Amino acid sequence: MEIHEGGIMSMVGNTPLLQLRKAVAEKPRVFAKLEGFNPGGSTKDRPALEIIRHGIKQGKIDEDTTIVESSSGNMGIALAQFCRVLGLRFICVIDSRATTQNVQLLKTYGAEVELVTEPDRLSGELLQARINRARQIAESIPKSFLVNQYANIYNAIAHHRTMKEIVDQLDGKVDYLFCAASSCGTLRGCADYLAQNNITGTKIYAVDAVGSVIFGGKKGKRLIPGHGSGITPPLYQEGLAHHHIAVSDFDCVAGCRLLLDKEGLLVGGSSGAAFMGLAQTRHEISPSATCVILFPDRGDRYLDTIFCDEWVAAQFGSQESEKLKAGWATEKTQHFRRAV
Ligand SMILES: Cc1ncc(COP(=O)(O)O)c(C=O)c1O
Repeated sequence: MEIHEGGIMSMVGNTPLLQLRKAVAEKPRVFAKLEGFNPGGSTKDRPALEIIRHGIKQGKIDEDTTIVESSSGNMGIALAQFCRVLGLRFICVIDSRATTQNVQLLKTYGAEVELVTEPDRLSGELLQARINRARQIAESIPKSFLVNQYANIYNAIAHHRTMKEIVDQLDGKVDYLFCAASSCGTLRGCADYLAQNNITGTKIYAVDAVGSVIFGGKKGKRLIPGHGSGITPPLYQEGLAHHHIAVSDFDCVAGCRLLLDKEGLLVGGSSGAAFMGLAQTRHEISPSATCVILFPDRGDRYLDTIFCDEWVAAQFGSQESEKLKAGWATEKTQHFRRAV
């Protein structure tokens, strides 16, 4: 089995880098790496392709293989798209938090969707229950391939190229990379690329969600999918990030809406969070620095949540919602725009 170069898979990567000029002040320079320009609409096209490509090369995937993965969002959609073009069966294990739109997308691409509703008994985590169910399904199918994004090193290896693209796009002048973390594939891949190439001048700031446990935070309710995790992923290693920042769900929404308002950029929750991560650490950044923020996906998958006033009012209260609507007059974003 071969991947024919030139098809949809050749469109993965080489995503644009856009300088943010209106959402931030002139200095430091802030660029956004727009991963939503990948064909499946997110940065997860990179690991999905790398893992499938490597599976084929190793003889672990051929025409009769069933691909199995646990994902309620972008990874599932990325895999569904490539399985469709390769003619592979794909079973995607989702949980009850998956949005209707993502489930529809998965099904439209041809994935078989299996729903998990009960959290894992030991950890109390829906994510762990999904991972367990995916493993069970893979074990029950003789020719199956379990993607296992949380532990698969090819998830991280795919992002060597993400970091290389950024370094090349800025002729090596990257002082800060702001990177949202969940499976930690992006974080690990970017950090490994810098280490392997002796690039010591770039600091990585990992952006996590309040309520996520990746960096040892206290487990709590999280509303926005994408960044953060209820388990510490095996791909995570101590020291990958120079610094980590936890961003609240409200700040994440405020960041997304500010980016839409000022830049006309409709981006997903983790992009808004990463942007606000920069806001939270602005005092550490010199005006002469060049910062890059990874924007993992587009905002179209969040129209019923982040960009829906009723949802925002229901989650955060009508006062907060009004603040957002009234020209982004939240203290935090105003302060950020003055300060950066
Ligand atoms: C929208 C979004 N942002 C951020 C991430 C985090 O990336 P990683 O899993 O590489 O840590 C993901 C991962 O699924 C994502 O879908």
